Amino acid sequence: AGLPPCDFTVFGGTGDLALRKLLPALYQRELEGQLPAGTRIIGVSRTELDDDGYRHAVREALHTHVTADELDEDAVRRLVDRVRHLTLDSRDPEGWHLLHDLLKDRPQVEGGEEVVRVFYLAIAPALFGPTCERLGAAGVVEDSSRVVMEKPIGTDLESARAVNDAVGRVFCEQQIFRIDHYLGKESVQNLLVTRFANTFLEPLWNSRWVDHVQITVSETLGVGDRGGYYDTSGALRDMVQNHLLQLLCLVAMEPPTYVGRETVRDEKLKVLQALKPMSPEDVDRSTVRGRYTAGLVDGAAVPSYTDDIGHPGSSTETFVAVRAEVQNWRWAGVPFYLRTGKRMDRRMSEIVVVFKEPPHAMFPHSEGVTSPNRLHIQVQPDEGMRLHMTAKEPGPGGIRLRPVSLDLSYATTFTQRSPDAYERLLMDVIRGNPTLFMRRDEVEAAWTWVEPILRRWQAAPDRPKRYPAGTSGPTAAATLLERDGRHWQESE
Ligand code: BG6
Repeated sequence: AGLPPCDFTVFGGTGDLALRKLLPALYQRELEGQLPAGTRIIGVSRTELDDDGYRHAVREALHTHVTADELDEDAVRRLVDRVRHLTLDSRDPEGWHLLHDLLKDRPQVEGGEEVVRVFYLAIAPALFGPTCERLGAAGVVEDSSRVVMEKPIGTDLESARAVNDAVGRVFCEQQIFRIDHYLGKESVQNLLVTRFANTFLEPLWNSRWVDHVQITVSETLGVGDRGGYYDTSGALRDMVQNHLLQLLCLVAMEPPTYVGRETVRDEKLKVLQALKPMSPEDVDRSTVRGRYTAGLVDGAAVPSYTDDIGHPGSSTETFVAVRAEVQNWRWAGVPFYLRTGKRMDRRMSEIVVVFKEPPHAMFPHSEGVTSPNRLHIQVQPDEGMRLHMTAKEPGPGGIRLRPVSLDLSYATTFTQRSPDAYERLLMDVIRGNPTLFMRRDEVEAAWTWVEPILRRWQAAPDRPKRYPAGTSGPTAAATLLERDGRHWQESE
C-alpha cells in the first residue's frame, strides 16, 4: 500500500521484545497484506543460530503470542519466509561485513524500488551507541536508513545526551525513531482527536474550568524476569520519565496548526519545558515512592519485590506518585497528579480531568449528592470515555439530584479490531513518519524535570514506603491529594 520494501533488521532478535511484540506486530501487518513485497526481516543476536533455527523460534513465538482466531498458517508461512538470522555481537567489531553482504546481496525488488533499511535496537541501551558505531563502520547506513531505539534512553540527563550523541554521529535526527509505545496506543491517539476534533471541550480545557488532572497507570504484573534491568531503573525512570509524561503532554499541549511530523512534537516539548522544576523540598512534599511487599494479586499470593529480585538491600521504587504543575497561561495553578505502580489491585490506565464545582449551588439538598464533572479517559483495558454529570432523578416529589454518566465504549461502538501499539509504530517507521516518536529535545526535557527527583531520592535517607501487593499503593499517595482537599478518582 505505497510502502517501500524494507530490510527490517532487529538487534536482539531472539529477545523478549522481538519475539513477544515486534514479530507478532509484523505478523498482523502481514496478515493484512501490508508488508511490501520484497521485505525481509533479519534477526541479529549473539546466539549461534542459522536461518532455519531462527525461523523455528519465530514460528513458535507467533503460535504463543498471537491469538488462535488471528493465526492464519498461510500468513505465518509468508512471514517466516521473510526471516533471516545473523549471529553478531555488538561488543565485537568482527563479523559486521556479514551484515553488509546480507543487506547488499538481496533479490531485486520488482520495479527496482529502493529498499529502506531499518535497524531496530531491541537491546540493552548501553549497546545503542556501540551498535550504531559498528553499523556506520560497516558502511550499511544509507540516507534512507532508519534506526529505532527502545527506552530507556539513558538513566539521567547526562547519559541520555551521551546516547543521543553516539547515535547522532551515525544517524541524523530525521533518521532516529525513539519509541514510546504509549503513543501508538489507539486510545492515546484518540486523545488528540477528542480534544481537537470536537469544539465543546477545548473552551473548558484550562485553569478556569479544570480543577486538576489525574493520570494513573497501574499494573498487576510484578517485575517478572526483568529484575536485573528494573532494579537499576525503578518506576520513575521506567514509566514516569516517558509514558506518563507523554500522556501529560497530550492532555496539556496547545493545539498544533496541523498534525505534522514536527508540529505535535513542538507542542509537547513546550509542555515539558513548562513543568515546574522541583527543589529538594518540593520533592519531599510532592512525590511519594513505594515498593510492594508480599500480598494477593487476582487471588494469588505473590512475593515481595525484594524476594522477586533476590536483593534485600534494594532501595528501588515500584510505585511513584507525583504532584506536577505546568507553568503556563492555560494551566497555572492546576495540579497534575501522576501515579504508577507494579503489583497493584488492577491493570488500569486512565486519565481523569476533574472540572470545578458549578459556581453557584442553586438546588436545595444537593450537598453530598453532586460531585464535580469528571471526564474519565480510559486508556486500557476497555478503552473508552466516561463523562460524569448530575441529573434529576425522575419523580414528582421535587428535584432530587443524582450522579449519572455518559459512556463511550470502544468495544461496543467500533467493530474493528484494535491494533497493538507496535503495529502502528512499526509501519510508521517503514513509512518514515516520526510524528508519534520522541524527539531528542523531548527526551532530554523529560530528563531535566525528572532528574531533581532522582537526585533527592538518592540523597534522602528514607526508603520507599511499603504497600502490600494487590492494593492501590502506599497510603502516602492518598495523603498527597488529601492535603489539597482532593482524592484519587477510582473508576468503577
Ligand atoms: C514498559 C515498561 O515500557 O511498559 C514496563 O518498561 C511496563 O515495565 C510496560 O510493564 C507497560 O506497558 P503496557 O502497554 O502493558 O501498559
